[in-house]
Amino acid sequence: MLKILFVCTGNICRSPLAEGILRDKLLRANIQAIVDSCGFESFHVGDKPDSRAIAVSKKRGIDISGHRARLFRDRDFEEFDMIFVMDSTHHKNVMKRSRNSDDQLKVDYFLNVLQPGQNLDVPDPWYHDLNAFEKVYAQLDEACEAFVKRVTKTI
Ligand code: 4NP
Repeated sequence: MLKILFVCTGNICRSPLAEGILRDKLLRANIQAIVDSCGFESFHVGDKPDSRAIAVSKKRGIDISGHRARLFRDRDFEEFDMIFVMDSTHHKNVMKRSRNSDDQLKVDYFLNVLQPGQNLDVPDPWYHDLNAFEKVYAQLDEACEAFVKRVTKTI
């Protein structure tokens, strides 16, 4: 079974959106998977996703309101096959926690699914308006779609 972890800063905007979108697409494609998300800052631990993230996904029939923010933990390296980060800060943070090359091979920028090797950031929408959340949603949706296509080809 495929096990995928998304990582962002607060685990209330970008990574819970990616988690919800990918879980929905994998379910529709009949692909068994575990999808989760976490963050690196403790400000929002235990909180629901941001109301704007809940709203933009609800519009597309995806309910992410059950997620509760949590921090990255070392055992995530064992529990997941792929660890997708949203930007270079998370990449640095996860790499710092890695214990060996096996851990490091699991880590990648999520947007590299669309533009391999470019290490592009999904911009943090938290300080911006609903439109920023719509843009992030569209980016994540496109990357999730491409990821599911890739997985479908390899199984
Ligand atoms: P996220 O957005 O990393 O996409 O969940 C953020 C949420 C909260 C904060 C930063 C980014 N914060 O500083 O509290």
